[in-house]
Amino acid sequence: TCFNLRRSGVFPMTKEGIVEIRALDAPIGAEVKGLDLREALEPETRDRILKAWYDRQVLVFRDQVLEPEDQVAFTKQLGDTGMPRLPSQAVREILPELPPEVMIVSNVRVDGKPLGLPHDGEMWFHSDMCYAEVPHTATLLYAVDLPSKGGDTLFADMYAAHERLRPELRMKLKESLALQVHDYKRTDRPARDLDQSKIGNYAHPVFITHPETGRKALYVNRLMTARIEGFDEMVSDQILDELFNVSEDPSIIYAHCWCPGDLVMWDNRCVNHARTDYPAEERRLLRRTTIVGKEAPKA
Ligand code: SIN
Repeated sequence: TCFNLRRSGVFPMTKEGIVEIRALDAPIGAEVKGLDLREALEPETRDRILKAWYDRQVLVFRDQVLEPEDQVAFTKQLGDTGMPRLPSQAVREILPELPPEVMIVSNVRVDGKPLGLPHDGEMWFHSDMCYAEVPHTATLLYAVDLPSKGGDTLFADMYAAHERLRPELRMKLKESLALQVHDYKRTDRPARDLDQSKIGNYAHPVFITHPETGRKALYVNRLMTARIEGFDEMVSDQILDELFNVSEDPSIIYAHCWCPGDLVMWDNRCVNHARTDYPAEERRLLRRTTIVGKEAPKA
């Protein structure tokens, strides 16, 4: 049973027709009720969903019965769908019917082969595809199989992280870039001696401006940010430590404890996410789709 949505204390944001959107009793996040995501969205409902998403950064749709094609069709109604950056041949062999837009996020192995990048156990905070020049803006994750405990996804509010930084540090890093890399590990800092020609990497502003809300967000994370450009290694590490600690403060986090049929959509421009550990011997399988960005994040 999932108790984390803490339904008591929710407050209505808007209520038109039968679709209800309520803020979760958490620093960020809203639950959208009254929709079957297999149905086409009314334009007005689509606008409300996007507005709530910009306001609350994470949206939760519960009790959905979605085939992979339904998830792609729903994603397409909100924007242009992204392709997994590392399409896995193994997945295509095992699941030939899977639409190419869908990535499997799982610890399951078939004949010893993972279904894409292995998603076992804990994963540190990160922002999807921050190492690309134009990262995907939205990620939509749909829960199929879940372990009996753990495997929660944590969402941290990067607007709040930006606001909470020491003003001197905010000033010092105003013009700075941070190198983001895809050195795929789940619970370790990027290696120091990375061969950048072999991995996805891009230097983005440390603080980015969300193109829809105009708000500033901190855009670094423990898993994928290798360094702050223009500082020596030791100073960069010290600064990053401070930024990571602020950005992972429990008071700015919504922890989503999954139920099968949940679809959660988050905004990679203002939310970092992480996964808590879960038993290795239990199955966890979710399907991921994304919406592409239109331009590189700007300061
Ligand atoms: C991810 O980080 O892309 C997956 C998150 C999760 O498995 O909860």
